[in-house]
Amino acid sequence: MHILGISCFYHDSAACLLLDGEILAAAQEECFTRKKHDPRFPINAIKYCLKEGGIDAQNLDYVVFYDKPFMTFERLLMSYLTVAPKGLRSWLEAMPLWLGQKLNIPKVIQRETGYEGEVLYTEHHEAHAASAFYPSPFDEAAILTIDGVGEWATASYGFGKGKDITLLKELHFPDSLGLLYSAFTYFTGFRVNSGEYKLMGLAPYGKPQYKDLIISELIDMKEDGSIRLNISYFSFLGGMRMTNRRFARLFGGPPRRPETEITQREMDIAASIQAVTEEVVLRMARHVEKETGQRNLCMAGGVALNCVANGRVLREGPFENIWIQPAAGDAGGALGAALSVWHRYLGNDRVNPEGKDVQAGSYLGPSFSNETIKLYLEENGYPYHELDRSRRAEDIAKQIAAGKIVGYMAGRMEFGPRALGARSILGDPRREDTQGVMNLKIKYRESFRPFAPSVLEEKASEYFDSQGPSPYMLLVARVRKERRFPQPSGDGMPMLERLKVKRSNIPAVTHLDYSARLQTVNERDKPDYHAIISRFEELTGCAVIVNTSFNVRGEPIICSPEDAYRCFMRTEMDVLVMENCMLVKEEQLPWKEKGDWRNELELD
Ligand SMILES: [Fe+2]
Repeated sequence: MHILGISCFYHDSAACLLLDGEILAAAQEECFTRKKHDPRFPINAIKYCLKEGGIDAQNLDYVVFYDKPFMTFERLLMSYLTVAPKGLRSWLEAMPLWLGQKLNIPKVIQRETGYEGEVLYTEHHEAHAASAFYPSPFDEAAILTIDGVGEWATASYGFGKGKDITLLKELHFPDSLGLLYSAFTYFTGFRVNSGEYKLMGLAPYGKPQYKDLIISELIDMKEDGSIRLNISYFSFLGGMRMTNRRFARLFGGPPRRPETEITQREMDIAASIQAVTEEVVLRMARHVEKETGQRNLCMAGGVALNCVANGRVLREGPFENIWIQPAAGDAGGALGAALSVWHRYLGNDRVNPEGKDVQAGSYLGPSFSNETIKLYLEENGYPYHELDRSRRAEDIAKQIAAGKIVGYMAGRMEFGPRALGARSILGDPRREDTQGVMNLKIKYRESFRPFAPSVLEEKASEYFDSQGPSPYMLLVARVRKERRFPQPSGDGMPMLERLKVKRSNIPAVTHLDYSARLQTVNERDKPDYHAIISRFEELTGCAVIVNTSFNVRGEPIICSPEDAYRCFMRTEMDVLVMENCMLVKEEQLPWKEKGDWRNELELD
């Protein structure tokens, strides 16, 4: 039985295909269209999933949409009526898409794919909950979902047992931790639904001076983690912006304009809202544990991408184990909706997970065979070396150890926002210059955030105070004490200078507060990547490498050989590895293209 899950029309459109409950394929539309966070109907992702399953749309047994559009429409209508006639402009701007597509999902699906069968719907948070629990390694677990907003729900909790999920309670719009965080993302000059992780990365530079102000003025925070927003400070009910003048007065002036200098105010605001978020998430986790009595916790929803908060839940929260859906945002809704049909609607049992999750490392996207890649390189006359299988890992590790920046594409693409060694740029974490080179010559950005480390799972505890595996880069851990270097106070020092101070013996991956957003790599899910880090350790004594997503700023992560080669040539990357083909920059002909490609990319 084939079930297709679809999420689209808000942000991060995606599709997912199940065969008898097993995840065959999952991908985001942006991989194919090259438009970051593409919200359009995911026709390319659907075509990819069908191809992976070897079927046509007519062979699908069910198609399921991850959200109930009429309920969302009702919420928008109610929000509009609350503030009318204010907000008329945003209402009118939203209408054509609603009347044309969002309220006609089955028609759109039929027109785009040819599928004529029934279309099912899950509720938004039901899809998040299913994406959190069903692929998890737990037979029984509490479930917590937190995001901006679904139809009405902005957070929900319950528990899963076997094939059943019971959701106990919801928090409703406009009271939303996700929207609160996004409001601050907007106010500090980053892009909503995209720049939230930057705000999180900025937090260690500031002091949480505004924490009490946020708690006293903007929200009413209850013991159970539920919050009420003081809506008089926000304008997302009917406006085109997130915050209003009153909000600005509270924080001493207007929002920071995007791309302008980041001042101490923004850093302190970031530290404050991050502290509030962690407090709320911790309270929610404690309450959910009390209500469900479970030892395990599963999480999803956009807020579950806040890996600093997740790290605290794991360390300080009441749960023994936590598992977070790697595609925690709305892309993962496609997966959750499909799994919900298989288990909840059709009543099929889960296959005993035996302590392992069934997310397959989240390597669920497109792959390209070595033959396909060779053909592509030969047709285009791009010089390459074919790596000998037995020496492949060592040859790549040697390049990294020599300080080269290596673009790496192997196996199936990751599903979710993090690159996990299938579409990654790799570098040496011990070198002080790695961070600067990667930021300025590869990513074309000046960044206040360090890169993420990939560490051998079995060696993680030698480098980090980690509690168990973190295969999806969704938990933050601190670099071990004996690896840290003492730091100057940093007061009055420009922020980029502060990041240049060597903080540990793996400086490129250590944040100001000694934290690192780590990925633990195991041999089962990603043997090729595990082998590279193992050889790197043999050469250097260091079982960690730098892993950043294979793209430049504002571009979706690369998917195909064409994307990889283009990104390789546009940047000062030294080496490109695609499956067993290795390309060296000096051997390539100069790259020519019309116009300045940097103008095509929207800054995130
Ligand atoms: Fe969501």
